[in-house]
Amino acid sequence: MSVGAANIGVVGLAVMGANLARNLASREGNTVAVFNRSHGRTEALVNEFPEAGFVPAATYAEFAASLSRPRTAILMVQAGAATDATIDALAEVFEPGDIIVDGGNAYFPDTIRRERALRERGFNFVGVGISGGEEGALNGPSIMPGGSDEAWTTLGPILESIAAVAEGEPCVTHVGHDGAGHFVKMVHNGIEYADMQLIAEAYDLIRRGTGKSPAEIAEIFAEWNTGELESYLVEITAEVLRQVDAETGAPLVDVILDQAGAKGTGAWTVQTALSLGVPVSGIAEATFARSLSSQAAQRQAAQALPGPDESFTVADEAAFIEDVRQALYASKIVAYSQGFDEIRAGAAEYNWNIDLGAVSRLWRAGCIIRAQFLNRIADAFADDEALTLLMAAPYFADALANSQSAWRRVVIAATQAGIPSPAFSSSLAYYDGLRADRLPAALVQGQRDFFGAHTYRRVDREGSFHTLWSGDR
Ligand code: NAP
Ligand code: ATR
Repeated sequence: MSVGAANIGVVGLAVMGANLARNLASREGNTVAVFNRSHGRTEALVNEFPEAGFVPAATYAEFAASLSRPRTAILMVQAGAATDATIDALAEVFEPGDIIVDGGNAYFPDTIRRERALRERGFNFVGVGISGGEEGALNGPSIMPGGSDEAWTTLGPILESIAAVAEGEPCVTHVGHDGAGHFVKMVHNGIEYADMQLIAEAYDLIRRGTGKSPAEIAEIFAEWNTGELESYLVEITAEVLRQVDAETGAPLVDVILDQAGAKGTGAWTVQTALSLGVPVSGIAEATFARSLSSQAAQRQAAQALPGPDESFTVADEAAFIEDVRQALYASKIVAYSQGFDEIRAGAAEYNWNIDLGAVSRLWRAGCIIRAQFLNRIADAFADDEALTLLMAAPYFADALANSQSAWRRVVIAATQAGIPSPAFSSSLAYYDGLRADRLPAALVQGQRDFFGAHTYRRVDREGSFHTLWSGDR
């Protein structure tokens, strides 16, 4: 096979792959080979952007021949079976030492499996989480690579050249081996679910509590975006709430069916957290809130169930809105703290040496959860690399101390008014659960010992104990 002219290739030229290929081609020194299963997409891309100097390939063999060695190819195809099929096809035409990069949203156990199988055949396989949607892929995404140190040597400079930049630093770090990158991307998406749900709850409470219109609430979010809540998601929330439906003239948010979809990364985050024993209650409630919204039949059946007798009226609108802002900030701190707990637990379980401070830095730009707030998280890990609990770091502990009264008032108001606020409420319960001096878990242990002789430990001495309960049969 001849040695080709391209130093990097992209397979899968739908919206993400096409934009990533254009981003790569725009960087000095890159020649980009492109391949797509249906050749029409390849031709369309090459014809639309002749200035990119793409090297098109019609077959996998042609694609392999167009790349210099070690060949490096980034896959941007559908996660799951399509990714396996593409890897198999590439492995047929690539040679040992070549690097196959999966930039899709793979489930991290699949990445661990693929990395092991390809390593045994002499290939370098790198699972890379890429966040930022199509705009990020084109102009600079946040990139979370796993894989081997050897592959990182070749791939690192290429990824650094296309990543988003935050305070002069590219938003990419070799987060750990094999599936670590996809694991971190998964948790990123879980945090994204929590962030989105919290914002949605804040909007709902303000709307139902004050009667303000979506356009008026848009201005509140725009104002919040100038302070400690500054973030991409708060920014786009204002845009979404301002939007008017061209057909009806109504606020678009009132025309959109209130059933949230999900591709499943939130569910993966929660399932993984459950198996690791990490309580990510904010992320879980956000995921369940999407499921609940989509349970049309159950929602219909529940229409007859009673709510509170009194209507919801807010005496001091400005004070209430400020309370909601503080509840949102406090709940957001909890969601991120839980997400970082999950990454820490995943790293321990899978032997990844993940630098949590570096993860917070690479999320500062390019990705959906990018926010001012991530600088504070980066500072917290810089001050204490071995931080046990993010929300207990001095900056966040102060913020929670300042906002907890407002947070409680909001949860009380929502509960009394019958307005669902699962993410606000569960975050507060988590906060109170962790800070409790004693938990009723002692009673649960007693119950377990009663019915199943599961034994319990005591506060006053080491060992396992079983009581001969009077109810023992
Ligand atoms: P997509 O709709 O997820 O995938 C379409 C691409 O996959 C096309 O190139 C398609 O080729 C190819 N494909 C599907 N089945 C195939 C098979 N059996 N063999 C070979 N190729 C196959 O496209 P996308 O939205 O650009 O996303 C690409 C990847 O990036 C996905 O893993 C996605 O989860 C991830 N991602 C997406 C976003 C986003 O915002 N969209 C953000 C981050 C990550 P054909 O043209 O031949 O059908
Ligand atoms: P990014 O990495 O840029 O955040 P992503 O992970 O593919 O991109 O998805 C971004 C967000 O859009 C996620 O909240 C995603 O929801 P899932 O995690 O449930 O996939 C959401 N999203 C993307 N496509 C969607 C679709 N077809 N239906 C519902 N939500 C979708």
